[in-house]
Amino acid sequence: MVDKVVIVTGGGGALGKAIAAAMAAEGASVVVNDLGVSLKGEGGSSTVADMVAAEITSAGGRAIGDATSITTFDNAQQIVQRAVDTFGRVDAVVNSAGILRDAIFHKMEEAEFDAVMKVHLYGAWNMSRAAAPHFRQQGSGAFVHMTSAAGLIGSIGQANYAAAKMGIVGLSRSIAMEMQRFGVRSNCIAPHAFGRMIESVPGLSPEQQEAYMAKRRATTRADQVAPLAVFLCSDGAKDISGQIFGARGNEVYLYSQPRPIRVLQRGDGWTSQSLASTLPGAWRSSLTPLERTRDVFPWDAV
Ligand SMILES: NC(=O)c1ccc[n+]([C@@H]2O[C@H](COP(=O)([O-])OP(=O)(O)OC[C@H]3O[C@@H](n4cnc5c(N)ncnc54)[C@H](O)[C@@H]3O)[C@@H](O)[C@H]2O)c1
Repeated sequence: MVDKVVIVTGGGGALGKAIAAAMAAEGASVVVNDLGVSLKGEGGSSTVADMVAAEITSAGGRAIGDATSITTFDNAQQIVQRAVDTFGRVDAVVNSAGILRDAIFHKMEEAEFDAVMKVHLYGAWNMSRAAAPHFRQQGSGAFVHMTSAAGLIGSIGQANYAAAKMGIVGLSRSIAMEMQRFGVRSNCIAPHAFGRMIESVPGLSPEQQEAYMAKRRATTRADQVAPLAVFLCSDGAKDISGQIFGARGNEVYLYSQPRPIRVLQRGDGWTSQSLASTLPGAWRSSLTPLERTRDVFPWDAV
């Protein structure tokens, strides 16, 4: 990452901070962007971004803090321009900013849906679109976007978050396909790292909850996810684009991407009745169950 310039949004958060530090340790100059808000996206303080930048510079790296919100395109353009003005270019954008406004679907308010979309999906779009002309002009660049198993697999009470995170997957895939000819890559990471986004597990006693959290704090760390983000921004990943990875503890994953898996053909076409008499039986074993992340990843069992 020597001589590369990287913008990390949400760079003051659990993952963003670890990624910014790892980028700098490998020689990158880093714009640590973070609005310094609560988990719900409330408040805001420039201290968070500035502190991470100060830690990097005191360790001998190069970084600046930036507390601009990524929720508007104008702001995103300013952040990218700041990287260019300060460090002379921009080589990678890591979209890690995030908030949560959890609510069960039939009670979710429009404002809760909107706020999560604005930070996650619009934030990723704003930053990517703002960096794209620079990447195109220089014939290189890399995007890494944080998606989530909450969207890829499923989660309860997070329809806004799941929708945004699946939107990011489509955004990344489109960028990868459309900017390949300019040497630009785009990949997603669905991370698992202890931090304020980790949910508590319903049904556990306080003691069990504490034991579970202590275990996750020690074995599911943000610094274990960071190397994958650095790798995906580096020249070592020059042939890797349009993919969805996962990272948790000492494990990295490659996710599948949707492709047709079954087909039914009928000479005179389908009616709703003929579909009803054929499809459920024919495809029963192929339908994706309504599982949650912890049903799919057995290591989450407590
Ligand atoms: N931690 C996990 O296990 C996990 C799992 C799945 C997905 N993710 C995703 O990874 C990313 C990072 O997660 P984290 O655990 O570091 O979260 P975090 O809450 O620790 O950090 C997110 C950071 O984003 C910043 N932010 C929020 N709104 C912003 C805005 N408008 N502009 C700029 N910055 C803003 C916050 O101030 C915060 O510091 C998020 O996108 C999250 O959805 C995390």
